[in-house]
This record gives sequence, C-alpha cells and structure tokens, in this order.
Amino acid sequence: MTTKLWGARFAREIDPFFEKFSSSIAADYRLAKCDLIGSFLHIHVLKGAKLIAAGDFAKLKKGLLSLLSDVDKGRFAYDFTSEDIHTNIQNALLKKAGPVAGKLQTCRSRNDQVVFDTKLYCLINGARLQESIFFFRKTLLALGNLHSSLVMPGYTHMQHAQPVYLKDYCSAYALMFERDAQRLEDALMRLDISQGAGALAGTPIPSSIYKAQIKKALDALKMPGLAKLVGPCENSLSVVSDRDFVAELLSLLAIMGMHISRLCEDLVLWSSREFGFIEIGDEYCTGSSLMPQKKNPDALELMRGSAGILYGNLISVLVILKGLPLSYNRDMQWDKEPLFSSLELIESELVILSGLLKTIKFNKANIEHQLGDESLCATDLADHLVASGVPFQEAHKVIGKLVRHSLKTGKKIKGMTQEELNLFSKKLNKREVLKRLNPYFCASSKKSVR
Ligand code: ARG
Repeated sequence: MTTKLWGARFAREIDPFFEKFSSSIAADYRLAKCDLIGSFLHIHVLKGAKLIAAGDFAKLKKGLLSLLSDVDKGRFAYDFTSEDIHTNIQNALLKKAGPVAGKLQTCRSRNDQVVFDTKLYCLINGARLQESIFFFRKTLLALGNLHSSLVMPGYTHMQHAQPVYLKDYCSAYALMFERDAQRLEDALMRLDISQGAGALAGTPIPSSIYKAQIKKALDALKMPGLAKLVGPCENSLSVVSDRDFVAELLSLLAIMGMHISRLCEDLVLWSSREFGFIEIGDEYCTGSSLMPQKKNPDALELMRGSAGILYGNLISVLVILKGLPLSYNRDMQWDKEPLFSSLELIESELVILSGLLKTIKFNKANIEHQLGDESLCATDLADHLVASGVPFQEAHKVIGKLVRHSLKTGKKIKGMTQEELNLFSKKLNKREVLKRLNPYFCASSKKSVR
C-alpha cells in the first residue's frame, strides 16, 4: 500500500488484510475527475482566504490541471493499492507539484470531499442519462410511428381484451420513461453540491470567500453553468452525513429498471412461438450449445432480470444508512458500488434496448390471426346496442350470451343471420354488427384518447 493521508497517531502498522478490505479505490477511482475539480475549487478558496501564497497556488493549480488532463486523456496512473481515490490523487499531486501538495488538505476532509465528488459525479452522469432517456424515448416512438396503422390484441389479465394500436403501446412505454426523466431532473436539482463542511464542523473560512472563489474557479475551468449548483454549505453536519441523494437516485433507477423489465417481458412474450408477433434481430439473441435450432432472447432476459440488481442496490443503500448516527460514518463507503452499478446498468440497457428495438420485425399474419378472435370486439358490440337505447348492463348481458353461444357452437358471430341475431336482441343490426366486428374499426373508434 502507498502513503496514507493519516498515520502519525498510530504506533503500529495497519493489518494488511484489513487494509485491503477497507480500500475503496476499486469503485471510487471513477470519481477522479470530480475529485480534481473539487481540489481545483478548494485551492481557489485557500488562496482567497490567504491560507496559501500566490506561488504555492500557481504550483498547485498547474499540478491539478495536469492531473485533470491525464484523467481526461486516460493517462492517469491509478494506484489500486491506495486507500481511496482521494489518497491516490494526493500522492499523484505530490509527484507533480512537490511538497506544496501537502497544503491541499488544509481546511478539508475526505468526509466532505467524497460527498462533493459523488454529487458532482451524479450530476454529470445524470445529465448524460437524461440524454440517453431522450434518445430511447425517440426510438420507442419511432417504432410506433413506423407501424402507425398496426393494430394488435390488447390484454388485461393476459387475456384478449380489446384491439389497440401498436403506436399507443409504444407511447405508453415512452410515457413511463418521460416520468423517469422528470424524476431524474428533480433529483439532480436537489443535489445541493457544496464545499466547506470539513470533517463535520465546517472550516474557519467565511462562506463569502467560498462563494466568490468557487465562482472564480468554475469560470477558470470553463464550467460557469455549475456556479448555480455549487456553493458554500448550509449545514456541515448535514453535508457529511447525507446520502439521501444516493438513495433517491437509486430509487428512480430502480423504477426505471422496472419499466425496462416490463417492456422486455412484453417483447419476450411477443417473440415466443405461441404469440409469434415479432422477430428480434440475431444481433440481440444467442443460441444453445445443445439444441441447434434455438434462438433465445437473452438480451431481453438479462435486462428483465437486472431489475433485481437495481432493487437490491436501492435496498442495500437504504439498509446501510438505517440507524446511522450523525454525522459521517465509514459505513457510508458501501454506497459506491450500488450507485455505480445501477447507473452503469441503466446506461448500457438503454443503448442495447434502443438497438434491439430497431431490429424488430412484426409478423403481421400471426397478429392478424389473433385479431380474428371476435371476442376482442365484444365491448364494441355492446356499445352498438347502447347507441340504440339499450342500458349498458343489459347490452353487456346480451353480448355475453352471444359470445358464449358462439364459443359453444363454434359458429362465428360474423356468420350469423339477422334472424339468429334477433334471438339475442331485436336491436342487434347485422350490418352494424359486421362493422363493429372489425378490430381496425374498434381501435379507431376510441376517441377519448386522441
Ligand atoms: N472512502 C470514504 C467513503 O466513501 C471516504 C473517506 C472518508 N474516510 C475516513 N476515514 N474519514 O465514504
């Protein structure tokens, strides 16, 4: 293990097994860029508070910018024997800027650093996720529009219910993801990224200096937009002990995973031989090592199942936080893997699902075959009776009997004569009945939704 940010107080070395166990760099290396941005803001604050001289500031600034560029270019030398990314960066700065690096930790602690880094990471990745959701919704809507006249059986209780348009199906899913995007937007607005909490009690630097210097530093980084979202902290105890933002993000990602899971299940069903409504592109399926004929929708199954991971990540964090006394406790370190895991899962799933949707081919003959089930139009037949003055409950009974008769005798309603229809109700008009037994008519006659 490399140099730590602490140690003088201890008479003996840390147990090597515990040292490895306590290290978080395998997960928090992802925070490198955010940590460097935080340090860049912090040296401006130290300079503004006259805690470092102009010469030291210049050296620290040069070192940090050079490390930032290393991270951006993928050249940063991660040291996976470090305790965490903060230690790794501190040691890397020592190499770049020399002993002045020792001044960077003035008036700050990893307790506030880790919150700053994680919140900024959520902001940056949340904004990227907003874009992915936007493009995914566009793909869903485009699929519906490409087949805008396609009608298919709609289901309740997984039983034939009424004919619906595929495009409405697609936009129902698009609406789920629109709500997800709104929840994300809301959570990002609440991030409240701050500096100055220190270990838990704040620092001797006035908040006005934080305010002015953070703004200056963000301008220098050409990130002026962030100035609205980053500022001095309001309550230092709250800053270092709060992980609500992690739980909130994981919660909306879990809901999103549930939406993805439901969509995947519909597509798995539709691609089964029993439904035969769609064929998914070979690009997103795999075969069997034993059964030569198999084409399995593994991509959909993996995404359907990943809701379990997403829910688990949320539950992990909620349980880790439960009962923690104020303020910082090391337990909180366990929030990283669930957070990164959920963000990365959802990001890749939106990419894979967008690609998969574009490969779907509809098997119109099989859909048409299922639409041949006249019972899908039963409600429209009842509406026909209602139009000629029959109370709905009475109409419901008449059509129920008619459907039962048709099922029992195997005789299609379409093939019944006017006389046969009269046996159920004199108000049943053969011409109207034929018109309403057309699933396309049924789907297009639903005016409340357009
Ligand atoms: N790795 C820690 C975390 O993720 C931050 C470091 C704080 N460590 C400490 N001993 N105070 O929460």
